[in-house]
Amino acid sequence: MTVQFNHTIIRARDQEASARFLTEILGLPDATRFGPFQVVKVENDVNLDFYETDGEIASQQYAFLITESEFDEIFARIRERRIDYWADPGQSRPGEINHRDGGRGLYFEDLNGHLLEILTRPYGSGD
Ligand SMILES: [Fe+2]
Repeated sequence: MTVQFNHTIIRARDQEASARFLTEILGLPDATRFGPFQVVKVENDVNLDFYETDGEIASQQYAFLITESEFDEIFARIRERRIDYWADPGQSRPGEINHRDGGRGLYFEDLNGHLLEILTRPYGSGD
């Protein structure tokens, strides 16, 4: 089987600001334009296509696997910008991070209310 996840469309109120928020916080290359999309590319060649809409935006969740040193950098940027973060997806533990699978993780919101997760160890990879 050679099925690979290739892209997803993320609805946004301001697609340029939303793409820039993501690339700046995660330390990714600038977004590029493709048709009506602002495209953010991540390391495993998945594209996140920001699509601008005035319509309703249902909150989705996107999780990014990063290294421990990247966690330090991203977490520093989150705190510098005073962005709220939580240890859990239910957002019941504000100002905390989690240590699932022996790594570190946290959740924060993007400009549209999508929930973004960063984690240094994939689920189930710990002892
Ligand atoms: Fe998750």
